[in-house]
Amino acid sequence: MITTVGLTKRYGPVTAVDDLSVDVAPGVVGLVGANGAGKSTLLKVLLGLLPATSGTASVLGLDVATQGEEIRARVGYMPEHDCLPPDVSATEFVVHMARMSGLPTTAARERTADTLRHVGLYEERYRPMGGYSTGMRQRVKLAQALAHDPQLVLLDEPTNGLDPAGRDDMLGLVRRIGTEFGISVLVTSHLLGELERVCDAVVVVDGGRLLRSTSTADLTAASALLVVEVEDGDRDGRGAQLLAGALRDAGVVVHPGGAASRLLEVELAGDATYDAVRDGAARLGLGLVRVQQRRHRMAEVFAPPAAGAGAPGPAVRASDDDQEVGARVGTV
Ligand SMILES: Nc1ncnc2c1ncn2[C@@H]1O[C@H](COP(=O)(O)OP(=O)(O)O)[C@@H](O)[C@H]1O
Ligand SMILES: [Mg+2]
Repeated sequence: MITTVGLTKRYGPVTAVDDLSVDVAPGVVGLVGANGAGKSTLLKVLLGLLPATSGTASVLGLDVATQGEEIRARVGYMPEHDCLPPDVSATEFVVHMARMSGLPTTAARERTADTLRHVGLYEERYRPMGGYSTGMRQRVKLAQALAHDPQLVLLDEPTNGLDPAGRDDMLGLVRRIGTEFGISVLVTSHLLGELERVCDAVVVVDGGRLLRSTSTADLTAASALLVVEVEDGDRDGRGAQLLAGALRDAGVVVHPGGAASRLLEVELAGDATYDAVRDGAARLGLGLVRVQQRRHRMAEVFAPPAAGAGAPGPAVRASDDDQEVGARVGTV
């Protein structure tokens, strides 16, 4: 769907996209990186709106350097920043954008009604957009990206400024664009956790460079761990240790924990792991308080694969709690 080879974009002394080579397959794909990582710049280069400094890129088989207009005819774009005239209604605006994309007036009106319904704007669609909430404005931006029936949409931070419920709604919409309408999606965010939920694959960039490109399934498999908490009963705090021994005997990989801990961390290898935990606890007469698949630790997931000497360390740092791709650290 998208291919870049050695793509570089500089703004004077600032290198926003740095020698980026990546292939993006059809489907719903996330582009993740901290603020300033070069995501918005990359989207503009892919749309043929900004010329690359060096390297090449193609979108749907079209060259970004020479076929920008053809690309924009087939690709929808939701920009990061607001661009909505306050005194115009959503309906008028989206009809206008659809006509600018080449649709005849009648078709533009039909598509507008459809897309505004899909994004969940109803009677409000006739009101001036100046009075809209952030969530409504994001929906209008999304609708105009879809209005000309594109094969692919590039969505720049569609969850920006939304509260948690608004984020969930927007992510659901993004997912449905891919699954129900069969439109491929490239969606950016600085939050890996939210993209992971709706994307088939994720591309991670940092300082304009490619850090990782991987399917979401691989991402999950890379950190499939179970946290097991036992009710110790009268074992003087040794219950977890006993269970660890029993699980190791059953062939389960158990990570070493503290001696007094009631928690175990075990590698998840399908349903058999759950069975082994249940049977082991039952045999030892221990209660199970919790058996839970652990959330990812981004530092583990995105540590670069064992690189050669002199390579910089992991350049993305993120806490386990907010799953946010943090600032650049440790690069030389
Ligand atoms: N028009 C511009 N002129 C100069 N520098 C820019 C411009 N747009 C972006 N940059 C710089 O390029 C880098 C990447 O920015 P951007 O593509 O907006 O990243 P992201 O969307 O990931 O936050 C940043 O250092 C930013 O300051
Ligand atoms: Mg941006």
